[in-house]
Amino acid sequence: MNKQAMFLALSLTALSNVHAAGVDVDAGKDAFETCRGCHTSPGTSNVYPTYYVPKIGGQHPSYTVAALKAYKASNRPHRTMMANTISMSDSTMANVAAYLATVDGSTKAIQNGGDAKKGKVLAAACIACHNGDIETDSSNPILAGQHANYLERAISEYQSGKRTSPLMQSMVQGLSEDDVKDIAAYFTNQKGLTTVE
Ligand code: HEC
Ligand code: HEC
Repeated sequence: MNKQAMFLALSLTALSNVHAAGVDVDAGKDAFETCRGCHTSPGTSNVYPTYYVPKIGGQHPSYTVAALKAYKASNRPHRTMMANTISMSDSTMANVAAYLATVDGSTKAIQNGGDAKKGKVLAAACIACHNGDIETDSSNPILAGQHANYLERAISEYQSGKRTSPLMQSMVQGLSEDDVKDIAAYFTNQKGLTTVE
């Protein structure tokens, strides 16, 4: 199969999955109303510890659903997000994720002063999974365009084991604080995720 045919086949599979699940983007938009306060204007901060609320517009729907389920099951500890997902049904999660994937909002991403050139070299080990490909849905999150201090925070939570993912823990356990800062700077510089406006 050539590349175009492959892409078409993948797109058709993705579309039929969407229909099979009965995903409703408008219902997802309505359900997102309660989330707007934190996930909209670029640069809203989590209060303590201080880091920017992650950008979730343009994210892969499969990853968004996985993240919401992890909070709901208390596998990913964050009090506000656990409270926001506790009574959310699977179909609402799928609708919200489908809506978020369509969001084409602000691309502003907040940098951390790290060395993006060094980060690019270090990130060679990461781009097989985090290549910013927005065409194909994937459970590997898009990191491109994410706020830098959120990425640093996520990586340090894998390192400490607070956020559990055996895969990601093995990927980042050898990185120093400076490495993490530079890798975050590299991904933040890329065009990718957006903030809902
Ligand atoms: C009070 C502020 C607040 C509200 C309200 C809120 N969020 Fe969040 N959200 C956050 C913060 C802070 C994080 C990062 C938490 C962490 O470090 O795990 C987050 C993380 C997420 C993530 C994971 C992002 C990633 O890259 O892994 C998703 C998806 C998400 N929120 C969706 C929602 C949805 C859907 C709602 C509404 C039902 C919502 N949020 C309501 C603050 C909020
Ligand atoms: C084999 C695929 C793979 C590789 C390689 C990989 N990751 Fe990941 N990454 C994932 C998956 C899957 C997740 C979601 C894990 C979860 O549910 O917590 C993830 C999550 C993340 C997150 C959290 C994103 C968010 O929105 O909260 C960051 C940050 C991250 N990876 C950074 C890296 C870095 C840095 C490297 C290279 C050193 C790397 N990853 C290599 C698959 C991969």
